[in-house]
Amino acid sequence: MNLSDYISANQIQKIAILCDEKVWQLYPDYFQFLEEVAEVHYISIEAKEQNKDIDSVVFGWNFLLEQKFDRNSLLISWGGGIICDIGGMIAATFKRGIRLVNVPTTLLAMIDAAHGGKNGINLKHQKNVIGTFYLPEKVIVDTDFLKTLPRKELLNGFAELIKYALIGNKALWEELKLLTKINYKIIKNEWIEEAIRFKETLVTEDLHDKGVRQILNFGHTVGHAIERLYAEKKRTISHGYAVAMGICYEAYLSHKQGALTWSEYEEILQFILRFYKPLHFTESDMTALTNYCFDDKKNKNEKLRFIFLEQIGKTGNICPI
Ligand code: GLY
Repeated sequence: MNLSDYISANQIQKIAILCDEKVWQLYPDYFQFLEEVAEVHYISIEAKEQNKDIDSVVFGWNFLLEQKFDRNSLLISWGGGIICDIGGMIAATFKRGIRLVNVPTTLLAMIDAAHGGKNGINLKHQKNVIGTFYLPEKVIVDTDFLKTLPRKELLNGFAELIKYALIGNKALWEELKLLTKINYKIIKNEWIEEAIRFKETLVTEDLHDKGVRQILNFGHTVGHAIERLYAEKKRTISHGYAVAMGICYEAYLSHKQGALTWSEYEEILQFILRFYKPLHFTESDMTALTNYCFDDKKNKNEKLRFIFLEQIGKTGNICPI
């Protein structure tokens, strides 16, 4: 069912489009057709990590309240992962839940953030520490948006594609390994479709992230710690860059645990360093990063838990170390 039919079938009268202001500037008429079927409002925000906070959520709540949105009203999150995270949180909590549709515009959101119902905001620089699980009723993936995505943003999402290949698709890894450059033309629609299908299977089995879904977090324990270190120092790093580095560290840990072979670890490292420059950390950074890993949401009873790779394309058990 297309978006107009979905709106008519559900007799939706009010729509708020929470959007990345850059996307709205690039595609001002993209949702014009909705004005034929409903009352449409735009809430545009600057899609930056610092805006993933309670103020943005309160801003959205106030807007919906002033415009008299009810539980049959619709919020469309139109943008990348930051927009999907904030929009999901607003939709999940306003009047205990209004309709939600995600229209991802970045590679990262297309293959990951727009699916699976996780939303969240940061608190005291800790990533996604406040949030809910709230599934969108629809996710509309239009890969034409990738044509205008800056290369930095493409690399941001590419890290999640690498992660997906490493945890679940060896054949894709073999294809990715041949790449020497990144641009939107080399991103195949079938990779996006496969990554979405893989995630959806895990989410169907474990929506609340207590078991099998956690493998999607490979590279993220260290990745989130790196993001927090940067935020504490008032520096910026994209989620994907931090995850790419996190993958290297966690692949190394997988090897140290006796799982991944040294040559597979080297293969992963060399591939990632082809596209992402290495980061250098001081001794005190390393101490901070280790401490931040102890705040990871996967940990149990204050014990660190990592996702390990058994081999390329397959994860092992979640191991405490
Ligand atoms: N981004 C990981 C997950 O949705 O579980």
